[in-house]
Amino acid sequence: MAGTELGGKRVVVIGGSSGIGFAVAARAIEAGAEVVIGSSDGEKVGGAVGRLGRQASGSAVDVRDEESLAAFFSGVGAFDHLVFTAGDWGSFRAPRPVAELDLGSAGEIFTVRFWGAVAAVKHALGGLSENGSVTVTNGVVAHRPRRQAALSTAMAGAIEHLTRALAVDLAPVRVNAVCPGLILTEVWNNMPEDQRDEQLKRMTGSQPLPRAGLPAEVAEAYLYLMTGSYSTGQVLIVDGGRTLV
Ligand SMILES: NC(=O)c1ccc[n+]([C@@H]2O[C@H](COP(=O)([O-])OP(=O)(O)OC[C@H]3O[C@@H](n4cnc5c(N)ncnc54)[C@H](OP(=O)(O)O)[C@@H]3O)[C@@H](O)[C@H]2O)c1
Repeated sequence: MAGTELGGKRVVVIGGSSGIGFAVAARAIEAGAEVVIGSSDGEKVGGAVGRLGRQASGSAVDVRDEESLAAFFSGVGAFDHLVFTAGDWGSFRAPRPVAELDLGSAGEIFTVRFWGAVAAVKHALGGLSENGSVTVTNGVVAHRPRRQAALSTAMAGAIEHLTRALAVDLAPVRVNAVCPGLILTEVWNNMPEDQRDEQLKRMTGSQPLPRAGLPAEVAEAYLYLMTGSYSTGQVLIVDGGRTLV
């Protein structure tokens, strides 16, 4: 039976066609919400809506394109909670020493995750309830910089500061972020299983919880931030203890 935590609420998940966003959509439906998902590939959106069932709908939206966002939100109408998990995995994310950065393209790492979040919030505001919330997504690289990944840390950190700033700017709408550690989403499907297991072990083996997280485990954090009516400007880390060691 559906829960009632989000009964009667409408939740929009941009990035909801796979991975963490899909898990948030599924969990929100379980909690009683009606969910609208969006991502850039219409076929992926259709497939995900089919798997989520009758309480879900969705359409294609590209967060790099303001017109696309405006059309998406005019189709959504009034809603209660915005969740933003959109992220791309282009070659611009490959490790690179600062001395070798192509400054002409280096900023692309901000395009979907940071500027996409800003643009989504901008276009969501017309339909978003004053009693509602926005939850965006960064990652533990914000707190645990890696060699040759300075811009990833800068981008993830910028999302945390954006969260605090928007919590003040958009109040009484609550604005929070979830900061996941390594989560086993579809991104890992492209790698041969033995290679994947080896890499996951190397990346998570020294954590207090020495394994990758499941999308459903991190989805709980979004549910809390949507329903936790006295939390705003917070970054909820769900990382198996990665940031502690
Ligand atoms: N998985 C992890 O270990 C991990 C760890 C830390 C942080 N994170 C962060 O969590 C977020 C979600 O990660 P994930 O693992 O769930 O990734 P994922 O499975 O690849 O999901 C990303 C989603 O974003 C959508 N998307 C990509 N480009 C878009 C665009 N231009 N416009 C609209 N939607 C777009 C994708 O759908 P389309 O292809 O249809 O556009 C997909 O629905 C990312 O920001 C990632 O950095 C993930």
